[in-house]
Amino acid sequence: MSNASTINNEDYFQINSEILASFSKHRPPLDLYVFREDICVLEPIFRKGGRLTDQQAEKIAELCAAGNLFVAHSDQNVYKRHMVRQLDLVLLDPNLKEGEVAELCILGVTQCYNNYYEQPVPDMMELLYRDVMVITEYIWNDKHRINSFMRRLYRKWSPAKHAVNTMIVGTWLWMQKEKEYARKEFDRLMLAMTVHDVGMCKVPQFLLTKASNLKPDERDKMAQHTISSVKLMQKSDLKFEELIRACFEHHERMDGSGYPQHLKGNQISSVGKITAVADSFAAMITERPYAKAKDFAVAAKELYENAKYDTVYSGLLSTAFVAGGPLSEHVDMDAKFDDFVSTSS
Ligand SMILES: [Fe+2]
Ligand SMILES: [Fe+2]
Repeated sequence: MSNASTINNEDYFQINSEILASFSKHRPPLDLYVFREDICVLEPIFRKGGRLTDQQAEKIAELCAAGNLFVAHSDQNVYKRHMVRQLDLVLLDPNLKEGEVAELCILGVTQCYNNYYEQPVPDMMELLYRDVMVITEYIWNDKHRINSFMRRLYRKWSPAKHAVNTMIVGTWLWMQKEKEYARKEFDRLMLAMTVHDVGMCKVPQFLLTKASNLKPDERDKMAQHTISSVKLMQKSDLKFEELIRACFEHHERMDGSGYPQHLKGNQISSVGKITAVADSFAAMITERPYAKAKDFAVAAKELYENAKYDTVYSGLLSTAFVAGGPLSEHVDMDAKFDDFVSTSS
């Protein structure tokens, strides 16, 4: 590492070769600065909007490899949008803090889910799958990182935000319970949680936000989403056990009052039970057209006191949000999302 690493300047951050290579070679989307070792200052080497010749691009690549290429913090939003589109880059940037990575991952999955929801075809699922696998990779390397995601649950409802909330809460619950597990199981579980409701895209959208009680035929249409989810995932060649259980059993209840199969108690798989708790919790903490967002601790307590849910999982959840605990401080993820969407071109 060069002297540049001794620069202690809040206004700039260093970028590495892998990140540089992810930009357009001739038209990087942001300003670039080079560290001049002789005079110990950063000076501009490229202005966004311009075009680099092959020779200039190679020179910049060399400077970058030597650790002398910098980006201004004022271009942070451009940089973050770039990362959200190519989420695997978050695994390569050592400058990102844990909370920033969690934020970018959440934004990436939210976007991909939205895109899939609008266009439920295998190519879109492939992109969602890819992003979820970036998150499992990131958390797998340090399991405590799941807490940074738990501090960033959405409080406003949309299909994508609901999917992300369920993904995070369900994975957290599973990790607390399982303790030891293989990477493959972890990958599958997180993906299953994310897509538990994808079949909702086949349900008439007005039903999703309907304030009054559903009529019997509307209820039937709604109930179809469990099987639609499984079918949609099969189109993407995704048909493993955890996924089928999450999609098909997340509306089953311990007392047999759920749907579609009216399973009872241990007829419901553990993945089904986890998804039920995570799904309900994810919905309760968000503001919906027909209900106010509940406080985390209140929602968890309600689930724990409700005999329809497995108390092993609702119990774990009710211990999560204690005052002063690792999850007691919360980040306004809806504001981050709005900010991201409003600055995206
Ligand atoms: Fe559902
Ligand atoms: Fe759901």
